[in-house]
Amino acid sequence: ETTPRLPVIWEHFQECTCCSESFIRSDHPIVADIILDKISLDYTLTLMAASGHQAEAAKKATMDKYKGEYILCVEGSVPLGADGNYCCIAGKSALETLKESAAGAKAIIAWGSCATTGCVQAAKPNPTGAVPIEKIITDKPIINVPGCPPIGEVMAGIIVHVVTFGRLPELDSAGRPKAFYSKRVHDSCYRRPYFDAGLFAETFDDENAKKGYCLYKVGCKGPSTYNACGNIRWNGGVSYPIQSGHGCIGCSSNNFWDAGSFYTRD
Ligand code: SF4
Ligand code: SF4
Ligand code: F3S
Repeated sequence: ETTPRLPVIWEHFQECTCCSESFIRSDHPIVADIILDKISLDYTLTLMAASGHQAEAAKKATMDKYKGEYILCVEGSVPLGADGNYCCIAGKSALETLKESAAGAKAIIAWGSCATTGCVQAAKPNPTGAVPIEKIITDKPIINVPGCPPIGEVMAGIIVHVVTFGRLPELDSAGRPKAFYSKRVHDSCYRRPYFDAGLFAETFDDENAKKGYCLYKVGCKGPSTYNACGNIRWNGGVSYPIQSGHGCIGCSSNNFWDAGSFYTRD
């Protein structure tokens, strides 16, 4: 009751905001409990009531008062092209803003494939020169949370871990929390018995697809994708891409946009 809520600054750079959309749909833990009880979300252009100068003043107040203590969340990649001018907020480039807000942060959480690998903006020919956060900030601990977007409960779980234990979760060599990214989508897929039996949908509308057979031959990237979709699922555990009849496109894998077609094995 007496411990102050953990101050959090959440930057938005080159992104589509679906990472925020995913986060606000977490229902275990429910996101309202996190925002109202566990953290003090002092700056996020998507969710905060303030805007313009008032919003920027709130961020500066947190950066000054909690230097070395606040958590910096970043959604989106940072463009290095055209002197950073492809993405500007409050009169500053994303590059400048990131360096400023990272300087006093205790740790950084890079949300989604944009912030962890560059995602669609970094796909060839990468017109803005987009790079992920770890290419720019190299002197702070970074939790990489890939996925386009990441699962809301994964995002909420990482924040709650940091709040509860006061330290980062255990990370793998790519900076991803092991609790959520140590297994392939293929390892927990309910269609796996069909894969093992050699029963595959050949097209999306054949009889085998209607029977729910494995989607490997129509491009599913579950065998090479590390994420918790098969266990946690989406929208409060309701479903996930494979359960909806579409193969995994590998949205939490590096450079998945350039890696090959979503609908073939190549
Ligand atoms: Fe949007 Fe995907 Fe980037 Fe998240 S990772 S901001 S969902 S494009
Ligand atoms: Fe693996 Fe994809 Fe088949 Fe599931 S649908 S068993 S993830 S190849
Ligand atoms: Fe992404 Fe594959 Fe899960 S496309 S949402 S990692 S099933």
